[in-house]
Parts: sequence; C-alpha cells; structure tokens
Amino acid sequence: MAWTRKDLLGLEELTKEEIELVLTTAESFKEVSTRDIKKVPALRGKTVVNLFYEPSTRTRVSFEVAAKRLSADVINVAVQESSVKKGETLIDTARNIEALKADIIVVRHSASGAANIIARHVGISVVNGGDGWHEHPTQALLDMFTLKEKLGKIEGLKVSIVGDIAHSRVARSNIWGLTKLGAEVTVCAPKILIPPGIEKMGARVTHDIDEALKGADAINVLRMQFERDEQKAFPSPLDYFKTFGITRERLETAKKEIVVMHPGPINRGIEMSSEVADCPNSVILEQVTNGIAVRMAVLFLVTQGHDQRDENTH
Ligand code: CP
Repeated sequence: MAWTRKDLLGLEELTKEEIELVLTTAESFKEVSTRDIKKVPALRGKTVVNLFYEPSTRTRVSFEVAAKRLSADVINVAVQESSVKKGETLIDTARNIEALKADIIVVRHSASGAANIIARHVGISVVNGGDGWHEHPTQALLDMFTLKEKLGKIEGLKVSIVGDIAHSRVARSNIWGLTKLGAEVTVCAPKILIPPGIEKMGARVTHDIDEALKGADAINVLRMQFERDEQKAFPSPLDYFKTFGITRERLETAKKEIVVMHPGPINRGIEMSSEVADCPNSVILEQVTNGIAVRMAVLFLVTQGHDQRDENTH
C-alpha cells in the first residue's frame, strides 16, 4: 500500500495497514543507525522544524537525529525565546514557519488537538510530538516496533498499561495502535486515574496490579503525572509505589520473559523500582533507540504523502 497522508496526527485515524506500513518502513531504516556514516539522502533539501511548547528530551532529540539521518536540515524553535512570548498565536507561528519554506513541523503542545489545528491551517506536513492528553503517536509506534522486534508479532499479545492512564497521551495512542493490530490491552491504575469510557477504546480495566501482570506478555509502565493533581486527590508517591509500583517481587509473579517498557521519563521508586528499570526484561533504552528508526519512517512517509498530494493537484 502507498502512504497518502501529509500529516501524522494520531493513531485513532490510521488503519491497521497504515500502522504496519510505518513499522515495516522503520525496519528498513533501523540499519542506517548501525553504519559508520549514519546517513541516507532520502530527505536531502527538506527542512524539519521542531516546535516544542512543552519540555522533552527523547522526542525532540529523536526527531532531530531522525531528520539528520535522512539528510534533512533541522531547526529547533526555542519557544521560550520566540515571538510566542510576545503573544503570537499557535496558528500564526505555524503559518510563519510555512512561509519560511519549512517542509515539516513537529509539534508538541499542552493543548489536546494542537497538531490537528495546525494541520488544518498549513499546507506543509505536521507531525504530532504529543498533544495534551490526546495522542503521542510516534511513542506508541516505537513501543509497537519494540514489541514486534522482541516478541515477533503484535497480534494476540497481552499488553498491560499501568500508571496514570487518565492524563496519558501515550496510553491513548498505544490503545488505538495495539488494538488495531490485534493485541489485548489491559489498563491498570487507581480508580481516579482511569478515564471514563476507556473501555469503548477496546481496553479492559483493572485496579489490581497482580491481575494486570498475570499472563501479560508486556507491561508498559507510565509516569505518575503528579503535576496535574490539581484536586490533590492522587495517592501519595509512597502509597502509589506500595500498591501499583513494579518491583522485582511483583515481576517474579509474571511470565519469565515479560517485556518491561516505559516511555520515559522514569520516576524511579514511584512507578517502578530501579532494579526493574534496569533488569534484563527491561527494553526501555531499546525503545529510545528504536524511536529514531520509527521517526525516520514517519518523516519519510509524510513527505511522500505531501509530495503525492502536490502532484495530484498540479
Ligand atoms: N517519551 C517522551 O515523550 O519523552 P520526552 O517527554 O522526553 O520527549
């Protein structure tokens, strides 16, 4: 199949075939990062702008590395030092980046829907680097890529997502992606951190960590977003760790070969112990490495999708 989208905004809108195309394209790009000269000319002459309104280590650096490995030019907008501080709107900023002849905007924003809004107002490609509580599509794609690499498939896998589901764009994108590819997804958290209606997305809900671990092929452990606890209703970090934290003892009750994932940043001693974060089952740093190949695939495909549209309209 051919990719026809100019943007990647979320996994909700993608078909199973489109998700699989990203994963197989990423497989072919993974080898580039093992070369002495880690570069291919696929996006030579293209310009990628990273527009991050929220903090990021992995996603921003990974997109920059991915773009450079494809020979694109990369500009990182320092939002705190930009005209955003003078009151420029998101749409005006994006339209000005387009006027500067960039080809792709990668955006992270605290507002759900920010990437979709930009995509409606510019003709260049837009990639969602995480918008509010909505979606973080490249994180879920790299999680699925890593699972497929480790376990050989996605279909039929039992994946438990544990942690702050309510505030997690990573959880939402993973649920859309994994269920489309035929995995069974369980979400596990205290009641206050399970958003209403999550079952309608295809996930099973439990509040029992032992149940979430039992029979799981993989667990994806999410950070507790204490900074969003405006009502002061979250369990304390210590209580959370006691009830839901992934410890060596808990992991020993799970399948021996269970894959332990975390999108980062980790709060060691809250959602998981250091011992678990660094144990042989953990693929946390492999996820980060795989993020490069997945983001190379996404940048490559949205460029193809954009250029295809251009050809069709001329
Ligand atoms: N996983 C993730 O999005 O990490 P960053 O916030 O560091 O980009």
